[in-house]
Amino acid sequence: MEIEEASFSSPWDRNTFVATLEDDRCKNVVACIRSKIVGYCLALEMNTMIHLLNLAVHPDYRYKGIAVALLGEILSFAKERNKVYVFLEVRKSNKAARCLYETQGFRHVSTWHRYYTDTGEDADVMIKKLGQEG
Ligand SMILES: CC(C)(COP(=O)(O)OP(=O)(O)OC[C@H]1O[C@@H](n2cnc3c(N)ncnc32)[C@H](O)[C@@H]1OP(=O)(O)O)[C@@H](O)C(=O)NCCC(=O)NCCS
Repeated sequence: MEIEEASFSSPWDRNTFVATLEDDRCKNVVACIRSKIVGYCLALEMNTMIHLLNLAVHPDYRYKGIAVALLGEILSFAKERNKVYVFLEVRKSNKAARCLYETQGFRHVSTWHRYYTDTGEDADVMIKKLGQEG
């Protein structure tokens, strides 16, 4: 919760985390340094796809490749399960996350207008097709 609240203007609440952690359809990974959680990635398995639900790294541990490592775990899981796509939505203003996803082979495919109800901001939908480079 500490990382979540430091990372988002509209953080998930505890109940949403618990529901996701208890959901058998979800693949959840954490990054730890000396037994301290410094980042996490939560994803939902859906038919041929994986929906990335949440990804955050503690502000003191950013720019060290932790997000790339967490995403890598989810991408490996998706490949093991023979998924075709991994997709997510990200705020248009979230340059760091959009750059991260682009470097990991995600492409912007659609925009959902006024998707975020707190600010009315648009969401960029990004997809990575598995088994393809770039
Ligand atoms: C986005 C976030 C998860 C990145 O975590 P991180 O561990 O610092 O990322 P990494 O160190 O693995 O960075 C990998 C790549 O992401 C991109 N990136 C990361 N931070 C960036 C920034 N501030 N500006 C631009 N690009 C950035 C870069 O391409 C970077 O590769 P490089 O270091 O070779 O340039 C982190 O900034 C965060 O938790 N932000 C708040 C929560 C959030 O926005 N989550 C995503 C919701 S969709």
